[in-house]
Amino acid sequence: MTADVTTLIARYVRDIPDHPQPGVVFKDITPLLAHPTGLATVVDAITAPLEGRRIDLVAGLEARGFIFGAPAAVRLGAGFVPLRKAGKLPAATLAESYDLEYGTATVEMHADVVAPGSRVLIVDDVLATGGTGRAAVDLIRRAGGTVVEFSVLLELGFLKGREKLADVDLRALATV
Ligand code: PRP
Repeated sequence: MTADVTTLIARYVRDIPDHPQPGVVFKDITPLLAHPTGLATVVDAITAPLEGRRIDLVAGLEARGFIFGAPAAVRLGAGFVPLRKAGKLPAATLAESYDLEYGTATVEMHADVVAPGSRVLIVDDVLATGGTGRAAVDLIRRAGGTVVEFSVLLELGFLKGREKLADVDLRALATV
């Protein structure tokens, strides 16, 4: 029998203590990706609730949001938008800076990729403090897009990132 998504996440997302710095417990999804049905099960769980709803674009957050976001876009018949760390995108960008669990960063999006009125699903692997997700939502909205949902595999509930995204439909496949 194929394991359900909650079981797969519980068994195959592992804790790496003190990465990338002391005191941070990193959630490593690579065992889940290596599982034969891991990626397919996660993509199914992200896209199934959106069946029948119009999604024009899936925006994936660098880096692990790309892994889940791109196949979700294929499944939904939508385009894919990479939301990248600063300095990676070659054309004109919109940028939002945010606080991470460890440090600060900037997320960028090509300025011409989200047409006003576009309906966008944002995908990432982990919701921690919510800074990355908040920046992603603000970028899409600045471009005139509508954020239909922000979907993550794993929500770290104790970091209260959800509070920064109170104005967004946030779906977590699992919460710890
Ligand atoms: C991690 C994770 C999310 C973000 C969540 O990415 O993949 O994108 O942090 O943190 P937040 O909710 O506190 O903002 P990371 O910054 O490690 O980048 P990477 O995927 O490029 O390694």
